[in-house]
Amino acid sequence: MRLSATVSTPARAPGDALAVSVWQEDIRRRAIVAEDLARLDRDAHGALSAAVARESMKGERGQRVEAATRGGRIIVFLGMGKRAKMDPRAWLILGAAASHFAREHRVKSLALAARVEGTGEIARLLAQGLHLGGYEYALGTGEKFKRRKLPLQSTVISFLSKLPGQVTEALRTGSIVGQAANFARDLVNEPANVVTPTELAARAKAWCEPAGVEVDVWGKAKLKALNCGGLLGVNQGSTEPPVMIVMRHAPEELRGGPKLALVGKGVTFDTGGISLKPGADMHLMKGDMAGAAAVIAAMGAIGRLRLPVQVIAYVPSTDNMPSGSAIRPGDVVTHPNGKTTEVLNTDAEGRLILADALVHACREKPTHLVDWATLTGACVVALGERIAGVMSPDEAWRARVCALGTDAGERVWPLPLDEDFAEGLKKSDVADLANIGGGRWGGAEVAGKFLEQFVDGPLWAHVDIAGPSYASSAHAQFTTKGATGCGVPLAVRLAESLAAARGG
Ligand code: BES
Ligand code: MN
Ligand code: ZN
Repeated sequence: MRLSATVSTPARAPGDALAVSVWQEDIRRRAIVAEDLARLDRDAHGALSAAVARESMKGERGQRVEAATRGGRIIVFLGMGKRAKMDPRAWLILGAAASHFAREHRVKSLALAARVEGTGEIARLLAQGLHLGGYEYALGTGEKFKRRKLPLQSTVISFLSKLPGQVTEALRTGSIVGQAANFARDLVNEPANVVTPTELAARAKAWCEPAGVEVDVWGKAKLKALNCGGLLGVNQGSTEPPVMIVMRHAPEELRGGPKLALVGKGVTFDTGGISLKPGADMHLMKGDMAGAAAVIAAMGAIGRLRLPVQVIAYVPSTDNMPSGSAIRPGDVVTHPNGKTTEVLNTDAEGRLILADALVHACREKPTHLVDWATLTGACVVALGERIAGVMSPDEAWRARVCALGTDAGERVWPLPLDEDFAEGLKKSDVADLANIGGGRWGGAEVAGKFLEQFVDGPLWAHVDIAGPSYASSAHAQFTTKGATGCGVPLAVRLAESLAAARGG
């Protein structure tokens, strides 16, 4: 999709169809008070004022009114919520709602009237939203997937005032982030018999190498040599070999300064192993590699954006299967730093493979480290299906990660990592740690505390995306049922933020 920005009044914006933002403040006492909207309403044969009078359009987020204009174009008015309260997600939603509309009406060229002064931030979020809203899973096999091509070829965003120079750059950034998130969504939506650890590594290469990001894949022999006992232990019951995918965006001239490490959980299917999960909804566990997908997708985006900062990434990947060779409750594994873990529950497998990746990531001496993992059902109980939990022993870093997530249009919320969450983990009779705490409550924090034992050096944060990586139904315009691509916008922002801190 070609994407550009111009300064014009909405009516003059070019395109076969026009999407227009409507704020609650544009409407008062069942009447349109914004002059530009009133003009568009006349052009739309009064469709907007009629909807306003019958109160089916109040400018609330998600509301919409469609009409034909005198000039034969279609026009859609999209509710945004309160202008005074506009947040980053308002722009993602506008972009996404506009591309949904374009898909439904098979629009090839779209004009999107933002009705605000142009800024880089807004342009970026609109571009990101346009891509997210255009997503549809099209990689399925079978007849019904043959027709799924997005008709939209070009979008022109119109702003009210002269555009600052960075708008074009911002549109590119937003497009790259949106496309990367859609790439992550495909990886998560595709079945586990397609996206095996080996295939995940191949996709990481295909996505990252053209972006100038180096990809190194450690196979079983190397994992043994490097003492990745957690990953090998979880993989033991499987016929699919495990991998550690190592990615590097390390512009030579940027040695020194901040160095960001990203880690993502890549369990391509989680049956629970010998501690088998119940059957209901088990198919959703093909999405247990959403952290890996986010990290791989973000690395490709970071490479394409040529961000002036070193970023490395570690993705441990395996499936978690029960079989005659599978790891048993009570078995002990040894991680690369020599620490041992008693596997009291084989369904707490994510932390076992992440431990190995965290140790190896820390050996590269990053200054900052963030991991994404579909780690616990407890996090979904705590924050619901749409909000990620952010944990860190460093409060300032946790706050910064949360703020960057919000800026990027993600929904994130802090969770604590007090020392006593680790108590149960330290009570194994036969190893340094047990992989579960033994108690019933605070499972997200206990898992976070387990990971903390393997972090040595950098400022670290753990993002539990068990809830928001997958949507059980469509919501917020840019989220279709299925994979959401969460984690990608935040990961890219983190790299940008450290690049800016470097002064580069
Ligand atoms: N992959 C699951 C967590 C999960 C649950 C992700 C629901 C998405 C939706 C993880 O490996 C797991 O099984 N966690 C256990 C941990 C428990 C055994 C301590 C859980 O949350 O039940
Ligand atoms: Mn599990
Ligand atoms: Zn899992």
